[in-house]
Amino acid sequence: MKGIILHGGHGTRLRPLTHTGPKQLLPIANKPMSQFCLETIVEAGVTDVAIIIGGIGSKKVQEYYQDGKKFGVNITYINQEEPRGIAHAIRLCKEFVNEEKFLVFLGDNIIQKSIIDFVEKFKNSDYDATVLLCEVDNPSRFGIADVKDGKILKITEKPKNPISNLAVTGIYLLTPKIFEIIDNLKPSWRNELEITDALDNLLKQNNNISFEKITDYWKDTGTPDDILHANAEIIKKHPDFSKQHVVNSTGMNLDHIHISGKIILGENYDIGKNVSINGPVIIGNNCKILENTVIGPNVSIGDNSIISVTGIENSIIMQNCKIDAFAKIKDSIIANNSEIKDNSLENLVDSRHVPYKIYLLGEGSKISV
Ligand code: DAU
Repeated sequence: MKGIILHGGHGTRLRPLTHTGPKQLLPIANKPMSQFCLETIVEAGVTDVAIIIGGIGSKKVQEYYQDGKKFGVNITYINQEEPRGIAHAIRLCKEFVNEEKFLVFLGDNIIQKSIIDFVEKFKNSDYDATVLLCEVDNPSRFGIADVKDGKILKITEKPKNPISNLAVTGIYLLTPKIFEIIDNLKPSWRNELEITDALDNLLKQNNNISFEKITDYWKDTGTPDDILHANAEIIKKHPDFSKQHVVNSTGMNLDHIHISGKIILGENYDIGKNVSINGPVIIGNNCKILENTVIGPNVSIGDNSIISVTGIENSIIMQNCKIDAFAKIKDSIIANNSEIKDNSLENLVDSRHVPYKIYLLGEGSKISV
């Protein structure tokens, strides 16, 4: 069994976060989202993985994953010059896949459950494909499956009038049979070779596609809100929390901090007086949290960041950021090496009345108010 992770595309819906790198490297709970995909694939016993790269972020992807050894896999990089569709990206992997069955994971899809059982079942089956379906509230945003009596009848990409709320998630179990189907595909209205069209044609050909349902968490991180939702969900269920409430890697005395909920603290932190941390929160290595700062819930802070803020909740602060703000920040994503100096509200006597601000800052942004 081989694995493929899609790490290409333009990530236009996530600009400015994607001006300097691919969206799949944006961190969720301080880890690139595509690393969750890779770890799920490795856990399912797949050790030969191709990563589809393309565009400005390609070098960063190769620098991060290298040959794959430190993740326990062999990685082959396959370049897609233009993002001409998911099916187009898959077709580029024909030689890599050879005659084996394979698993495709879209690098912006986040799940929490293991897929070992699905993979094992598919390996031992005669199906041409198995898709993983998940119920969603907004079916017009996804590929949608029409299912009757336990069989998929049709798969449609982003239907205007969805026949069901069963989204086809970005995890596909396939056989090399899909390649000849892709060879006969026509580009869609968005000028892409769609995996949904390929699957639908495969269905029409011999009706031999099965499905499994994801009943717990699945997210396509297409928008900043989706990313924040996934971040909150992943830190809340972080495996380290099963051991203890405060994961304090340095063993430092935390008596001077007000802590509620679960928090994970990296190495070498420096936390000032009268700081409150309301979990779930994850804080990376070498961070400074200065006096009177209030953090959480649902916040992740990347390595080497220095934070002094009236309040911050439901946000992602990436690495090497400096925030010095008499302001409450929420629902924000602040990319690496950004700085916010915002003390415009400093003369407000009562910090409880400080209004919230929302930021979406690309890498290296500097804001001074
Ligand atoms: O997330 C599930 C959905 O993913 C499915 O329900 C849809 O049927 C499927 O078409 C796809 O829809 P999206 O519109 O969300 O796909 P998007 O263009 O965002 O691309 C998905 C991932 O694949 C993303 O990580 C970028 C990567 N990609 C995409 C294209 C079009 C590539 O690597 N190359 C490409 O050419």
